[in-house]
Amino acid sequence: MSTIKAVTFNKYTKPDGFVLADIPKPTIERPGDVLIKVYAASINPADVKRAIGTLRIFDPEKFPAKIGYDLAGVIESVGDDVCDLKIGDEIFVRLAENERGAFQEYVVASSKTVALKPKNLTFEEAASLPVAALTSLQGLLAVKGGLQDKTVFVTGGLSGTGSAACQLAKNVFGAAKVITTVSTPKISRISELLGEGVVDEVIDYKTTAAGKVIPKGSLDVVYDTVGEALSYLHLMKPGAWIISIIMLPSGQNLKGLFPSIPRWFCTMLDMAFKIPQYRASRYRVNYDSIVLVPTKEQLLDLKRWAEEGKLKAVVGKVVPLSDFEGVKKAFTEVYEAKGLTGKTVIKIIE
Ligand SMILES: NC(=O)c1ccc[n+]([C@@H]2O[C@H](COP(=O)([O-])OP(=O)(O)OC[C@H]3O[C@@H](n4cnc5c(N)ncnc54)[C@H](OP(=O)(O)O)[C@@H]3O)[C@@H](O)[C@H]2O)c1
Repeated sequence: MSTIKAVTFNKYTKPDGFVLADIPKPTIERPGDVLIKVYAASINPADVKRAIGTLRIFDPEKFPAKIGYDLAGVIESVGDDVCDLKIGDEIFVRLAENERGAFQEYVVASSKTVALKPKNLTFEEAASLPVAALTSLQGLLAVKGGLQDKTVFVTGGLSGTGSAACQLAKNVFGAAKVITTVSTPKISRISELLGEGVVDEVIDYKTTAAGKVIPKGSLDVVYDTVGEALSYLHLMKPGAWIISIIMLPSGQNLKGLFPSIPRWFCTMLDMAFKIPQYRASRYRVNYDSIVLVPTKEQLLDLKRWAEEGKLKAVVGKVVPLSDFEGVKKAFTEVYEAKGLTGKTVIKIIE
């Protein structure tokens, strides 16, 4: 039996407890599946949150467990029913919940989730996009009435999700003005990394409170990647939208990704959700907290926008799987959620 290298963990743990294990090479068992040789996989905060057990109440791990949703690679073989992908295709994917395990040399995935990679991106760049850019796409699409000619405030403009949100808001959805926050060393990098004219106003959140410099009643949309949205209510116009990706979602929204969550948990979330929604409503602001429900169609939208130059991948760091201490450090940095620029990518097969 041939084996492959995989990042695994044997109990709920921070990244220092991750193990580089030898596991059996996966094989295609369903006719709609593809076997992918993985070149690059990107780290998302959800990976480390899963590993420490954040989701254990409604989606417990079976140990040894694997993490990782985002990868790019090459199709190695296809099941009998697969007609839109072939051996040798360069692809990227956000793996389904039950197929998690991007940080390993080969992965089997349903062809319904796998899309051709943007031609102009490297494997590392393509692997950086799915979760972050799909989340921001769905978050911005949740704004009823769209973003055309609107003023949009994206918190954390050089995070994984924030960098995609700034670009999608301006280049795809036609926002008139994009405002964002970053920490001091990143101020000068916004145009270089996102493109000239994508962000109209950058605020150094380490030295300046956005709530004091953005004019009152001027924002149409706050896209919240850091959990601060409710402190900006006074900046928003009546009828404006807050979309958070970090505050507690409603039970209904979480059910979109985890259909089997218990009803009592849904009810509890729905009750908790009413609090920020009520606070926003006092300013006549709409509030939602979304959960990514990935689709292949939207991955193909990302591919098109990347190829049209509307969406750049922002990869801050690449670490080879062979440097496993470096890999654990990279996961720890994502866990700490400070100081990174864009996405961190693990180079799986070199
Ligand atoms: N709802 C969903 O489906 C969904 C999907 C994806 C992600 N998320 C969540 O969304 C959050 C962001 O995800 P991500 O992938 O974008 O994370 P990330 O790329 O790891 O972003 C972290 C970066 O945010 C910056 N940051 C931290 N606090 C900040 C603040 N107060 N103001 C501005 N920037 C700040 C930090 O840079 P500096 O140190 O330079 O400030 C840090 O490097 C995570 O909690 C993640 O779990 C949710």
